[in-house]
Amino acid sequence: MYKLNTPSLLFESSRPGRSTAIVPGSDVPERPLDSLIPTEHLSPTAPGLPELGELDIVRHYTNLSSLNMSIDGNFYPLGSCTMKYNPKRNERLAGLPGVSGLHPYQDESTLQGMLAILFELQEMLAEIAGLPEISLQPAAGAHGELTALLCAAAYYRDKGEKRTKVLVPDSAHGTNPASANLAGFQAVTIKSTDKGLVDVADFEAHLDDETAVFMMTNPNTVGLFDPQIKKIADLLHARGALLYLDGANMNAILGQVRPGDMGADLMHYNPHKTFSGPHGGGGPGAGPIAVRDFLGPYLPAPVVARNTDGSYRLDSDRPKSIGRVRAYFGNVGVLFRAYCYIKSQGPDGLKAVSDHAVLNAN
Ligand SMILES: Cc1ncc(COP(=O)(O)O)c(C=O)c1O
Repeated sequence: MYKLNTPSLLFESSRPGRSTAIVPGSDVPERPLDSLIPTEHLSPTAPGLPELGELDIVRHYTNLSSLNMSIDGNFYPLGSCTMKYNPKRNERLAGLPGVSGLHPYQDESTLQGMLAILFELQEMLAEIAGLPEISLQPAAGAHGELTALLCAAAYYRDKGEKRTKVLVPDSAHGTNPASANLAGFQAVTIKSTDKGLVDVADFEAHLDDETAVFMMTNPNTVGLFDPQIKKIADLLHARGALLYLDGANMNAILGQVRPGDMGADLMHYNPHKTFSGPHGGGGPGAGPIAVRDFLGPYLPAPVVARNTDGSYRLDSDRPKSIGRVRAYFGNVGVLFRAYCYIKSQGPDGLKAVSDHAVLNAN
């Protein structure tokens, strides 16, 4: 493959007189530039663009693109959580004109297909989580954490309860305490045992009536499933506090067990780790959240809702909502890939995904 060792700038490769295409001369009279553009916007000199042949330009950009770390060329070695397989089928589907050509400012009546997809995605994510209320708005896992904690804060404000603390195990991803702080809580670290699980004695010593939430990743960031989760949830609930499940490692438990059934009250998904969203390259992400019914009213508005006649709408009439956390209604391109992935796997396929993910991780 053609490869430059050090990619030069297009300006450095420029040679006067080179061009990419030869077009026939104009057969309409030329109009002076200042009759088309106000003179104050005209530069006295031409911009001095590089002059290159078409192949030079194609090779330049192809070479630059191959310098990026990419899952097409390399194994992506980020963390226990990360999805290692992004089916090209989902990329092709996301590129269909009916999907990629949509604009969020279109009238709702012309977005019905996409709204139906997003509604069904909400239902599937609720089923997988075992938690009924979903927001697709957050733009990343960390953003989902913040959003869910803001919902918890609104819930306690509404109840007139002063809860200031969020407990976080010392094995947690750094975004957990950061989100707790950003949401206005004090993050309190809970020790792990020498086996790498939550030290329940230390947890109980810190759990009090000012505790709002305990944030737990399960399997945790060292890759261990913590079987104490149900006991921890019961202890929290007895004190009126909530259990947050950081869903970054959901690919290890998909279809095996549901966070809601283990006692979690709120959680986020990372579609780029679980449902074939693109990872790496700094593109847009998504971090949908799932919460229990009593937290549903606080979710960001709008959510996708179904009308009685079977059509869909963006429901913004939610007086207790914490408001928007992102423009429009989420990063639809990423959410759409998650939809394709879940639909193409089906319930048995998702279970097989987690079987294989655990086997591979081990
Ligand atoms: C356990 C855990 N929680 C949260 C996050 C944050 O997710 P995101 O990178 O989507 O913001 C990560 C990311 O690596 C993670 O591993």
